[in-house]
Amino acid sequence: MIKLSKMLRLDDLKSTQPEYLESIFSIANGHLGIRASDPISPSDNAGTIVNGFYEESNIIYGEKAYGYAEKNQTIVKLPDLRQIEIYDENDDKFIHTQLQDMKLDMAQGILHSTYKISNAKNEFINLELTGVVNQEKSQFIGLRYKISSDDYKGKIRLVQDMKFGETAQDSDDPRKSREITTLQYDNVLTSQNQNVLRITTENSQLFIEMGLTTDKNLKQTFSLANTPITFDVIAAVGNINQEISLDNVPTFEEIELESKHFWKNFWNQSEVKIDGDDQLDQAIHFNLYQLESSAGRDGKTNISAKGLSGVGYEGHYFWDTEMYMSPFFAYTNPKIAADLIAYRYNILPEAKKRARTLGVKDGALFTWRTINGKEASAYYPASTAQYHIDADIAYSIYRYYNVTNDDQLIKKYGLEIVLETARFWTNFGSFTKIDGQQKFCFFDVTGPDEYSAIVNNNYYTNRMAKFNLTFAIELIEKFPEKAQQLGVSEDEIKEFTTIRDAILLPFDKEKGINEQDDSYFKKPIWPFEQTPKESYPLLLHYHPLTIYRYQVDKQADTLFADFLFDDISKDQLVKEFDYYENITTHDSSLSRSIFSALAARLGLKDKAYSYFIATAKTDLIDLQGNTNDGLHIANLGGSWVAIVSGFGGIQIKDGLLYIQNNLPKLWNKLTIRIQYQGRLLNIEYTQNNTKVTIISGDPINIVVNGVKSTVEK
Ligand code: BGC
Repeated sequence: MIKLSKMLRLDDLKSTQPEYLESIFSIANGHLGIRASDPISPSDNAGTIVNGFYEESNIIYGEKAYGYAEKNQTIVKLPDLRQIEIYDENDDKFIHTQLQDMKLDMAQGILHSTYKISNAKNEFINLELTGVVNQEKSQFIGLRYKISSDDYKGKIRLVQDMKFGETAQDSDDPRKSREITTLQYDNVLTSQNQNVLRITTENSQLFIEMGLTTDKNLKQTFSLANTPITFDVIAAVGNINQEISLDNVPTFEEIELESKHFWKNFWNQSEVKIDGDDQLDQAIHFNLYQLESSAGRDGKTNISAKGLSGVGYEGHYFWDTEMYMSPFFAYTNPKIAADLIAYRYNILPEAKKRARTLGVKDGALFTWRTINGKEASAYYPASTAQYHIDADIAYSIYRYYNVTNDDQLIKKYGLEIVLETARFWTNFGSFTKIDGQQKFCFFDVTGPDEYSAIVNNNYYTNRMAKFNLTFAIELIEKFPEKAQQLGVSEDEIKEFTTIRDAILLPFDKEKGINEQDDSYFKKPIWPFEQTPKESYPLLLHYHPLTIYRYQVDKQADTLFADFLFDDISKDQLVKEFDYYENITTHDSSLSRSIFSALAARLGLKDKAYSYFIATAKTDLIDLQGNTNDGLHIANLGGSWVAIVSGFGGIQIKDGLLYIQNNLPKLWNKLTIRIQYQGRLLNIEYTQNNTKVTIISGDPINIVVNGVKSTVEK
């Protein structure tokens, strides 16, 4: 029996926008995603997305300067594979659809939808469509159509082919995608029950092949008089620049079986159960299901801001991966976390070039928005200037290494990335005398909060750079041979150490808290009281320079550093939380999860809980108002961070696993599964108890609620 927690069904389908449903019920496997479109009259957003399949176009600037990003990279919306045409005996199309039901079975990875469809004479038939994607052989999608008569009893004729999709329209909203006019479509195979379409991008010079195999000859006519007709369509979507073969296409049943195994195994490794609130329990399952579905698993692709659920943010990869999504993978499926690191390693040569373009003579600077490694953002104040992405990537390696102890990855990719990013910081920053002391500063940077830009000494950036250097030194000492191969000298280690110790961390003595950047507290506070509700998110209603003049945060910034490093006193943290909370709009979906996790750590249970509710349900209640364009994948990962690090108090400090029971008052029990250094752990929190069980692996020393103990199997 399928538990309700792993079944998503929405109550009010009729008044829900189709584009929203397409995102919520999209199914994917890291390589491809299909939106849950209406098969008869799909919306303009319907279609298939292949991770990393993009077209380029020139960025047109009114005024251009040296080193600006040159080209847009835009994820291609490929033909919608669910579409079908149904004709009646008079060759009139069944054209009106009413969605009856849609349910996503997250225990097995199967999407069921049912529709009532009518022709011009108002005669009805029923269509049931079941969709499932292969998770391991990631090219295949199984679609099963069942058509039955309602009051129409005549014959029908079917057409199932791939319609060339509409691409997105250009928009003023920077979070949307853009139009592509340079795709070429070629039919490379058309036979009785198979056809293959090749889509080529003119500028990025990539192609993808999509094929359909049907188990019935759809060209005949079918009678609906007595029995329903059922037929399967197996779609294949190849890898980029590879031809597909339709010789050994799996059956629908094979795809279904594989999917069931995959998700069973997934939940076994990654389960998070909330006992005490069924809606939140369902929401967290939905979030983890969609997060897993969006992750590239081949080392060549990554996780875009919208995953494979929509084309918002043009399919770009951001720091979202390292700071919000990869924690979940490191702790539940380290192979994927490693693949995400491998992707960064693959674009390291581009990152080195980018550092040179920025006038930094050594090291690497990863780009802010990208698919192919080159910068794709035309607005440098909120992109290239977010240098912190370098340290974020180093941090994801640190986290992965702490959780897995995987020396191999460090030797293969990790050390080199950490070293090149550390080198960037030392060559990018400079010494300045402040209060009689030489301080190492980073000028003209943008922190995570995109409502301030091009500031000096952003606290988060500086703290992360300090971490990046610390970690580089640690790895160099641990892997001296590899470090030598990478050209590390004694002098360089000394330089890293001196700079690390001298990095300025802005602190306001009067307020007794860390200051977001050198000038932050000198600015006036945003006039919140005079700002009507409709003017949020501010980014859509005010010129960036208006926003930059004020103390107002789009998302967690200094508090994010506090959360990661846990290195300030509780008193200071309480003050800091309070201060920044009052000026944060949460206009970015990346914000609330961090507030929730920190509040839980501070014992602010009610606050932690209300931030968590908003985080967990962001897409299910369309909190940001733009789930139409795709899910907020960083936030999905953030909801896991909020539960696991916040309520579950899980942290690794000095090589030890800490667990702290911060269970919300309203919950009876929380169960979390994580992997830790080769073990699978099950952790159960109740109001009075915390129970850690080793499901597989060796005994372990951990600190539970402040007490050090050994857990045997
Ligand atoms: C946030 C960024 C984030 C991007 C993509 C923006 O709104 O401010 O931090 O990387 O969205 O999710």
